[in-house]
Amino acid sequence: MKYIPLGKSGLNVSNVSLGCMRIADMEVKDVTKLIQKALDCGINFFDHADIYGGGKSEIVFGKALKEISVPRESILLQSKCGIRPGFFDFSKEHILNSVDGILKRLDTEYIDVLLLHRPDALMEPEEVAEAFDILHREGKVRNFGVSNQNPGQMQLLQKYMDKPIVANQLQLSCACTTMIDSGLNVNMTNSASVDHDNSAIEYCRLNDITIQTWSSLQYGFFEGTFLNNEKYKDLNNVLDRIAKEQGVSSASVAIAWLLRHPAKMQAVVGTTNENRLKELCDSSNVELTREQWYEIYRSAGNVLP
Ligand SMILES: NC(=O)c1ccc[n+]([C@@H]2O[C@H](COP(=O)([O-])OP(=O)(O)OC[C@H]3O[C@@H](n4cnc5c(N)ncnc54)[C@H](OP(=O)(O)O)[C@@H]3O)[C@@H](O)[C@H]2O)c1
Repeated sequence: MKYIPLGKSGLNVSNVSLGCMRIADMEVKDVTKLIQKALDCGINFFDHADIYGGGKSEIVFGKALKEISVPRESILLQSKCGIRPGFFDFSKEHILNSVDGILKRLDTEYIDVLLLHRPDALMEPEEVAEAFDILHREGKVRNFGVSNQNPGQMQLLQKYMDKPIVANQLQLSCACTTMIDSGLNVNMTNSASVDHDNSAIEYCRLNDITIQTWSSLQYGFFEGTFLNNEKYKDLNNVLDRIAKEQGVSSASVAIAWLLRHPAKMQAVVGTTNENRLKELCDSSNVELTREQWYEIYRSAGNVLP
């Protein structure tokens, strides 16, 4: 496993992390095994959100963690808030209440990182900054970041924050590459040239904000995995061939594709299967060449200018 700095937080995080969105309905004993496998593979970072499973993911994780005798300081816990039924809410009151709920469900005194889950059109940055200050002062949250935000939104928020935004969690996979397409098609009129995020990758690199990739093995918005999917035949052929050459699984190669990007991203993987998790962690040690990286990109249906 390789470790990277998480933005300017001073934390060193595994470049593969475990996302806990899908563990809500698992038994505590199975989540215990999954966490133990993650730790054995070198994962030190776990991603949550207050809404996963309506709070059940955090509860089952908190119980499972108690079964494992691991010092709290040796693992890093991240959660998110700001999504409510039918709207987004970055109000001070909601952020403070959400964190209290997160701490209770995870059964921990603090979280290492809190992310704002999805942009709130009614965000008052001064109010968010005030909530962050209180949470930090009270020792409940050590670092702050965002998710699904563009550079303008990050800049607006950062203007009022004392601490740096350490991470931006964004959707990126071999089969969901809008963030990369626009940068490759500057000055063109094709659909790939449309800039959906206002150069989020470059902004994050310029400001030492770690990009965390969500749905790292999915295509579309929760449509399923592209692995072994007929819709992505060429992509799978290339992934399978490189996997064979490297002696790893195709899923490992798909994650290695994310990690090959010089932005030094952190891949958030959401498997609930221990064996798959081990395979995905192997990706941390797979080195893809420039030619392989572009071959995978093209085989997903992208055309270079
Ligand atoms: N910030 C945001 O807006 C946002 C949005 C969505 C997710 N997230 C975060 O990102 C994390 C990852 O998202 P995700 O769960 O969509 O990620 P993912 O790793 O792309 O998908 C995991 C899913 O793919 C399945 N899968 C099928 N074949 C697989 C294979 N060969 N290897 C691995 N998995 C395979 C897994 O099933 P098995 O469990 O059976 O392996 C699981 O259901 C979430 O847990 C959450 O923490 C954030």
